[in-house]
Amino acid sequence: MIDVAFAPNDVVAADVAGRAMVVIDVLRATTTICTAMAHGARAIIPAADPGDASRLAEALDKREVILAGERHLQPIPGFHLGNSPAEMTAERVRGKTIVMTTTNGTRALLATVGAQQVVVASGVNLTTAGEAARAMLAETGRLLVLCGGRESGFGLDDAYIAGRIVLAALGGRRTRKGLNDSAIAAVDIVRRYGTRLDRVLALSEAGRSLHHEGYRDDLAYCAAVDRHPVLPVFHDRRVTLPVTGAAA
Ligand code: MLT
Repeated sequence: MIDVAFAPNDVVAADVAGRAMVVIDVLRATTTICTAMAHGARAIIPAADPGDASRLAEALDKREVILAGERHLQPIPGFHLGNSPAEMTAERVRGKTIVMTTTNGTRALLATVGAQQVVVASGVNLTTAGEAARAMLAETGRLLVLCGGRESGFGLDDAYIAGRIVLAALGGRRTRKGLNDSAIAAVDIVRRYGTRLDRVLALSEAGRSLHHEGYRDDLAYCAAVDRHPVLPVFHDRRVTLPVTGAAA
């Protein structure tokens, strides 16, 4: 059984309890998370809002903590970094703990608290995340794919990645059995756009907003399929790489 939820508002605690989950916010939070982890960040702690992020950061060693995130796509005043994957260079993030708050992506991560396993997916780790989804489905028989979405609702960009994850989890089986309606819709979106993640990102409302705000390079970065074959996992309220995870 595979369920897709197009936005954090579409799930409640009972839906996620004990589940194997994949979380997606391809523009840009989960791409940024994958990039930071690939470049050696120690951990990422998602926070609900900037105040919460500052409080969480205060409890950590100042020399090792970075505050990052966005509101209305722009860096948050007083924070070290925004939410651009290009900012997560090895020089900036290696060995650091990043406390991060974004409009939708970190909200989606926090909505998974209570799940059994949570992996982070984007375009830059698509194959790796798809393989993990397949393994989790084989192990537990159930998968819940949660999208960050846009303004608490549907986002084409995340829905497309969700469809790619569903297809990877099915491992080439052409079946709709056991898929909820959102999972069927997500797969149909992939059938419409094929492998053109770049096209989907450019068409999506989130992509058009980023383009308008001057983040064109970020769109290209987020469309770079498998650039960082890492598997960030969210456990105990922090994102880390499993001990065996390869840094790209
Ligand atoms: C979000 O969490 O809403 C996004 O990552 C927004 C962004 O592109 O910065």
